[in-house]
Amino acid sequence: MSDTPEKTFTLTNDETGESFKLPVIDGTTGPSTIDVRKLYSTTGYFTYDPSFTSTASCDSKITFIDGEKGILRHRGYSIEELTEKSNALEVAYLLLNGELPTKKQMEEFDHTITNHTMVHEQMHHFFRGFRRDAHPMAVMVAVVGAMSAFYHDSLDIWDEQQRTISAHRLIAKIPTIAAMSYKYSQGQPFVYPKNDLSYAENFLHMCFSLPVEDYKVSPVLAEAMDRILILHADHEQNASTSTVRIAGSSQANPFACIASGIASLWGPAHGGANQAVLEMLEEIGTKDRIPEFLERAKDKDDPFRLMGFGHRVYKNFDPRANVLRDSCHKVLAELGVENDPTLELAMELEKIALSDPYFADRKLFPNVDFYSGIILRAMGFPTEMFTVLFAVSRTVGWISQWKEMIEEPALRIGRPRQLYIGETERKYVPLKKRK
Ligand code: SDX
Repeated sequence: MSDTPEKTFTLTNDETGESFKLPVIDGTTGPSTIDVRKLYSTTGYFTYDPSFTSTASCDSKITFIDGEKGILRHRGYSIEELTEKSNALEVAYLLLNGELPTKKQMEEFDHTITNHTMVHEQMHHFFRGFRRDAHPMAVMVAVVGAMSAFYHDSLDIWDEQQRTISAHRLIAKIPTIAAMSYKYSQGQPFVYPKNDLSYAENFLHMCFSLPVEDYKVSPVLAEAMDRILILHADHEQNASTSTVRIAGSSQANPFACIASGIASLWGPAHGGANQAVLEMLEEIGTKDRIPEFLERAKDKDDPFRLMGFGHRVYKNFDPRANVLRDSCHKVLAELGVENDPTLELAMELEKIALSDPYFADRKLFPNVDFYSGIILRAMGFPTEMFTVLFAVSRTVGWISQWKEMIEEPALRIGRPRQLYIGETERKYVPLKKRK
């Protein structure tokens, strides 16, 4: 990114006739930006963009999205190619380091992650404080945040080696903690990871193994889980990633930053949508009730939204939804539930919604959350675990974005301003004088 302004925008104050030249900064692809860093100091004005619809909060080399064309690339590689030819751990390496690993690098990374999958035995006691019916996302926020109470030797964010160790610990241990959250909610004993299993196989093993019988990981389910982990790994500056970046900009430790990302992801407008999609489909129940719910989704006075539809960036199909739709059919066929009524209902809902002008005019297409829940439920996960799985995958993106930010030449705390619309100065009125 060149700092020498070749191109500029001129901003004119029509009241005073004053003009200000603002530098334009081009990326390698995608929209260019108008550099407003000096706008306040030169004009006395702030920009106003409450939900950041037109704001680039940083520059990044990790993920590129073209919402109009439905393009998603990680370090330049398309999500379609990565889900077809790569695997979750290799994509984690790519996101973290910027390049696909050599054979030796992949072997070393695989060995490192595999040998960090256990958590400190004392962490098992954390779970005891929760009710068994606690939402597993509440458990994840707490236990991941508590990692900073156990791994004191990798909290110095200015030490490259400690940053790398923390990143590896998070990528390795989050699946274990997620599986423990699931087991705790089921009243079943925790299952230790096994070093002879792949990243996705190990996660399924820790979730579904029981002391009373061996659990054989189905290759189709392992492949589907691996694909789900790739598809959810990173997505540019979404709400939870922006939360992690803001937390990291205060120089908080990486475990605390990832815990803040988990908290943000939990919302039904964001990662919590996959759980909300299943709950919505269960509420709709049958195809004949679809029109009634589509009318509710259009009704501004009704808080109901078509969960799993719409996206701030994608104004075309979310490419991840396309990949997941294919995986859906494969997993359900493998499980012998290809006629899953929920999938049938989802596909009918998608067909009708996409032919409805309200959704078409607003370019509301299915997003990543629309199909993921159907696969996860078919695999045996309860709806409360869906967003936990999203968090397991997105931890890779969060820690990659955090590392990229910390390694920038001049890290500064993120501190937005505001448009103040409250009371102007007024004098205090003693209680006895108030009416
Ligand atoms: C994720 O940012 C990311 O990258 C997120 C994510 C990632 O990988 O990190 O992709 C993951 O969070 C996917 C999104 C999951 N959320 C849902 O599926 C929840 C349902 N979707 C909506 O809540 C909504 O579409 C959002 C939150 C996703 C996007 O909201 P925006 O960009 O603020 O859009 P908006 O609310 O301004 O909607 C524009 C119009 C409005 O109507 P009008 O005022 O123009 O008449 O579209 C309508 C909205 O009412 N609209 C919907 C709708 N989504 C938008 N109407 C009905 N159902 C919907 N789902």
